[in-house]
Amino acid sequence: MKSKLTYLKKLELFKELDNYKDGQFFAVADQRVKNHLPQWIQFSPHVYWLKDPEGEKNLESYGNAIEFFLRQKIHRNARLYAFGGGATTDFAGFVAATILRGVAWVAVPTTLLAMIDGSIGGKVALNMPQAKNLVGSFHLPEEVFICGDFLTTLPESEWMSGKGELLKYGFLSKEINTLILKKALIEDMAVECAKFKMRVIEHDFRDQGERIFLNLGHTLGHAFETTLKIPHGQAVAMGLYYIFKVMKEDAALIQWVKMVEALQLPIEKFELSNFKHFDPKAFMACIDHDKKKVDSKLRLVLVRDIGSCYVEEVTLKDFKAKVQSHEEFTIK
Ligand SMILES: NC(=O)c1ccc[n+]([C@@H]2O[C@H](COP(=O)([O-])OP(=O)(O)OC[C@H]3O[C@@H](n4cnc5c(N)ncnc54)[C@H](O)[C@@H]3O)[C@@H](O)[C@H]2O)c1
Ligand SMILES: [Zn+2]
Repeated sequence: MKSKLTYLKKLELFKELDNYKDGQFFAVADQRVKNHLPQWIQFSPHVYWLKDPEGEKNLESYGNAIEFFLRQKIHRNARLYAFGGGATTDFAGFVAATILRGVAWVAVPTTLLAMIDGSIGGKVALNMPQAKNLVGSFHLPEEVFICGDFLTTLPESEWMSGKGELLKYGFLSKEINTLILKKALIEDMAVECAKFKMRVIEHDFRDQGERIFLNLGHTLGHAFETTLKIPHGQAVAMGLYYIFKVMKEDAALIQWVKMVEALQLPIEKFELSNFKHFDPKAFMACIDHDKKKVDSKLRLVLVRDIGSCYVEEVTLKDFKAKVQSHEEFTIK
C-alpha cells in the first residue's frame, strides 16, 4: 500500500488538475487557499469550502459535507481532492474513507506541516469535544502533490509550526539533518520528509511498529500543545528540547540548537520561562493521557545518534518523577 508522491510547480499542478475539468470533480478546500487555485475550481459547484478547518474538523461539519457530496452525486469511482493544511486533509480524508463506503482521495497540502506530516500516511480523523482526532480511520491518499508555491502566503506562526516538525525529521534521518544544516531549499526538505514518512508507513501502516519513531518529541509535545495552546509543530520543537533535557541527551540538545539556528527559528519561542501562564499540574495530567501508554508504561522515543533512534519503556511514575525534578515542571 503506497501513495504516489509528486513534487511540482503550480502551473504543472494546474495542468494536472485541468484533466478533470470536464469530468466530475469533487473537492474539500480551505477558503484561505482559494486564490491559489485555478478559476474553474474557485467557481466549481463540487467544492466543499472550509472557513475554519480545525474548527470544522468535527461530526457536524462532516455530516454537512457528506450531504453536500451526495447532493452533487458523488459516485464510487470519484476521487476527492483536498486542498489545505492538515486539518483539511484529515477532514477530507475521513469523508473519502467513509462516503459510499470509501472513495479514492488526493491530497494537495498547502502548509509546510501538512506537506511533511499531516497529509502523509493515511491517518484521517475528526475531533470530538473530549479530545482531538478521536474519530478516524486509516485511508491512504492515492496521490500527494507537493507544491511549494502555496507556501508564499503562509503566516509566520504556521512557518514556525512546520519547521518545528521538520526538526524532528532532522533527528530521524541523516540526509534530512544534512539538508537542514546546509540550509537547503524548504521544498527540497519537505519532499525528503514526506518520502521518509511514506517509507515508514509502507512498513507499518497501522501504527504497530516503527511508526512509533515518528512520535519523537511528541510525548511532551502533545502536552505543550494542549496546555499552552500553541501550534502543533511549535509544541513538537519544545517537546524535543525538553525530552532531551529531561533524559539528559546532551548530544541531541547540541544538534537541536544547531538545527534551530539553521532553520532561523526564534529560540525564545521554545523557552518555557517565556510562557507565564504555564501550569505544570495540567501539563502532568496530559502526560497521564498519552496515547502511546501501555499498562502504565510510556514508550519514549529517544535519539542514539542522528538517524538512529530507539524506544525506551519507562513507567509513568518514573517518567513523571524525572520530568518534575526539573525546576520548570515542579508543581508548587
Ligand atoms: N493525519 C496525520 O497524520 C496528521 C499529522 C499531523 C497533524 N495532523 C493534523 O493536521 C492539523 C494541523 O495541520 P496544519 O498546521 O496544516 O493545520 P491547518 O489545516 O489548520 O492550517 C493552519 C492554518 O493555515 C491556514 N492555511 C493553510 N494553507 C495556507 C496557505 N497556503 N496560506 C495561508 N494560510 C494557509 C489554514 O487556514 C489555518 O488557519 C491538525 O488538525 C492535526 O491533527 C494530522
Ligand atoms: Zn507531529
